[in-house]
Amino acid sequence: MRIVVTGGSGMLGHNLLRQAVLSHEVWGSYHTHRVDVQGCAMFAMDVTAEADSRDQLKAIRPHCVVHTAGLTDVDLCERSPQTARAINSEGTRITATIAEEMGAQLIYLSTDYVFDGEKGDYSERDAPSPVNHYGKSKLLGEELARQSCSRLLIIRTTMFGRKIPPRAGMMESLVEALRRGEAVARFADQYFSPLYTGQLSGLILRFIELGLTGLFHVGSSEKVSRFGFAEAVAQAFAPGKAKIHAVPFRQIEGSAMRPRDTSLVSKATEERLGIQLPTWRAGLAQLKRDWENLPEEGVSR
Ligand SMILES: NC(=O)c1ccc[n+]([C@@H]2O[C@H](COP(=O)([O-])OP(=O)(O)OC[C@H]3O[C@@H](n4cnc5c(N)ncnc54)[C@H](OP(=O)(O)O)[C@@H]3O)[C@@H](O)[C@H]2O)c1
Repeated sequence: MRIVVTGGSGMLGHNLLRQAVLSHEVWGSYHTHRVDVQGCAMFAMDVTAEADSRDQLKAIRPHCVVHTAGLTDVDLCERSPQTARAINSEGTRITATIAEEMGAQLIYLSTDYVFDGEKGDYSERDAPSPVNHYGKSKLLGEELARQSCSRLLIIRTTMFGRKIPPRAGMMESLVEALRRGEAVARFADQYFSPLYTGQLSGLILRFIELGLTGLFHVGSSEKVSRFGFAEAVAQAFAPGKAKIHAVPFRQIEGSAMRPRDTSLVSKATEERLGIQLPTWRAGLAQLKRDWENLPEEGVSR
């Protein structure tokens, strides 16, 4: 199958490219960080530029477009809602429209942040109600994708993983702080159900190969608090060094509002894929094994 991954320079995108290339013909787009992934043809594309995106994607004629590109900095989205909307909502409409014109399947990566976090254990039947502009822009992206593309799969998920060095994200800063022996505080009652990007990439490929459409929640098989997760990261990456404090959940002044419990129920995914979703603990063990082995392809800054 010919597959394009938008956001190929991102945390999920580069992992997905590496796995997809083992059994498919694969292209990956980047925007501001040029990245090379072995075996994949990489190209620059801004998903907000409709005419150029159309030309680029139509030259490839993919069977499937996995749309991972997005503005994922939640606080930046809050400070600049128009940019969030342009990239996460309008960029998704553009990508979905082009996928439809090509007769391709579109897989849109959405988020557990479409929920307000008051209830937790959200299934696909629960009504979304985002509390910040990131969640609002991603939810609008879902709606615009539905209006624009008939072969659409929406995956609502949450994840952890490595960025391509020298870029660093949430995991890199946590591991570095723990290894330095710094004290770290995490909320004991803020929950999520994260998958390692390596686990999630494998699941996305199963969805593609089965040609599934619709809305699916794809999270780890059980939820964990931010504190519980950080404790497990400490045991794996900095045993004996870490000082993690459990603190009660609160909104942080000056930052975007965060939902308290965005855990996902992923029963429909398990039924349709005929699998049991993996645990985040298994994902963390896999991340540890992969940590030192991330190929030094690097990004240009
Ligand atoms: N991270 C999470 O915990 C999480 C949770 C739930 C859902 N998601 C969703 O999953 C997807 C992947 O997340 P991630 O964490 O892998 O993202 P990420 O590491 O922040 O990467 C974002 C990607 O989007 C690209 N991009 C940004 N603006 C663009 C534009 N205007 N045109 C084209 N590409 C653009 C970036 O390209 P350059 O770097 O080259 O500029 C990068 O490749 C996102 O859609 C996100 O909303 C993420």
